[in-house]
Amino acid sequence: MAIRPIITAPDPRLREVSKPVQAVDDALRALMDDMLETMYDAPGIGLAAIQIGVPKRVIVMDLAREDEDPEPRYFVNPEILAPSCEKSIYEEGCLSVPEFYDEVERPAQCRVKYLDYNGEKQMLDADGMLATCIQHEMDHLEGILFIDHLSRLKRERVLRKLKKERRLAAAE
Ligand code: NI
Repeated sequence: MAIRPIITAPDPRLREVSKPVQAVDDALRALMDDMLETMYDAPGIGLAAIQIGVPKRVIVMDLAREDEDPEPRYFVNPEILAPSCEKSIYEEGCLSVPEFYDEVERPAQCRVKYLDYNGEKQMLDADGMLATCIQHEMDHLEGILFIDHLSRLKRERVLRKLKKERRLAAAE
């Protein structure tokens, strides 16, 4: 396993639409292992493959609290089948949009179809934080960031700040 560098906005790779995975094999499991380690190290609760520069439809997640045992989840080729009409609002953040948090409204529940770590077909009915987190990560697979759900003013402000920080870091 290895920790990979996480890409941050406004890197254009984060706008790519990720491609479906053809086979859940050892190479893909190695990628998922790296993603999980990278996510734990960051630390974060969810990571899409594109965030480490790999445009594949793969997500890892762990919503266990610090005092709980780790509960890693792997989603390959996830599809949302039934988003609820009911909405919920959570404060979101993203490893690719460092140090910025804001509230996003999304469907409160969703049903997700996906392949697991072993390539087995799975179905999950998610609500609460899990539903929000899955939808946030699924957005990454379409090249969408959570800041795209905010007003243009807020989005441009955070992107300007990130660009400026990147320039400063490059100048050091
Ligand atoms: Ni994110």
